[in-house]
Amino acid sequence: MPALNYEPVVLKPLTGPLPPLSAIQEEILALKRERNAVILAHNYQVEEIQRVADYVGDSLGLSYQAAQSKADVIVFCGVHFMAETAKILNPSKPVILPDLEAGCSLSDSCPAEQLAAYKKANPGLYVVAYINCSAGVKELSDVICTSGNAVKIVQRVPADREILFVPDKNLGAWVSQKTGRKMRLWDGCCYAHVLFTVEALEKLKNQFPDAPVVAHPECVEAVRAYADEVCSTELMVKFARENPAERIIVVTESGMLHRLRREVPHKTFIAGPTDTCACNDCKFMKLNTVEKLRDALKTLSPQIHLSAETIARAHAPIQRMLDWSK
Ligand code: 13P
Ligand code: SF4
Repeated sequence: MPALNYEPVVLKPLTGPLPPLSAIQEEILALKRERNAVILAHNYQVEEIQRVADYVGDSLGLSYQAAQSKADVIVFCGVHFMAETAKILNPSKPVILPDLEAGCSLSDSCPAEQLAAYKKANPGLYVVAYINCSAGVKELSDVICTSGNAVKIVQRVPADREILFVPDKNLGAWVSQKTGRKMRLWDGCCYAHVLFTVEALEKLKNQFPDAPVVAHPECVEAVRAYADEVCSTELMVKFARENPAERIIVVTESGMLHRLRREVPHKTFIAGPTDTCACNDCKFMKLNTVEKLRDALKTLSPQIHLSAETIARAHAPIQRMLDWSK
């Protein structure tokens, strides 16, 4: 078996306390208090942002936090569709995204106009949309799901309805396998998760034979089949806590390793590799930086703006998801 031609990224157990916060991180905390803002951060954000956030989690957890928030301002450190979801759930509050260019290739793979045309040509479909989609696509959907609740949501769809699952064909295929429910799958994917390969994982496994592999369902089928567990980023924390292994290979965006190390400090986390890289960053998630977060809190911009009609129409399928996943 040929070896990897790069050094694996390995986060060793945390032995002492975390390093003190930097001046800019302290500035962010002071501005946050002044603004009565809440900082919600996705697991893929850089570590410096994760450390100043009020909540760090997956798309499902972040949606619940956004729905329950009592803060005056929501600062969302994640990508555009996540901040849009927070705005739909909190129409009267400013929702700030530190970099408005933080998009998502998966969301882009299903433009609302194309979905509208598909629905028109194929009437009667029940549309289950992965939360990684635009507000325009949410408006056209019957229910939203995240990777954390997709199986549960699909199981709740009336049995006599044919499902169209958008936009991720990999998550959709995984849900289909888990539920036994046939679904039409939109031809979309996450540009970052499809880069993980079994070949690279086999080489890494040679170096860490005792380490189980946990993978995100946005990975391709061969990688999902190779993994010991397939789950959302939040459930990866549970897996890391409960699995007896001391070292775990984590096949998702590299920011996840920081969350895992803080939550399960006595274990070692190894980044899932691609054929050319020891770990995999989402270029959109990484557009947010502590400097942009500080400036966003100072200026209360850039904000997410959606029309009242879009908010009203997109709210119903999100609310259905929140109700069905209780
Ligand atoms: P999670 O909901 O599992 O955090 O996934 C979100 C995402 O964008 C994965 O690429
Ligand atoms: Fe979108 Fe993929 Fe980035 Fe997740 S990792 S935000 S699915 S591009």
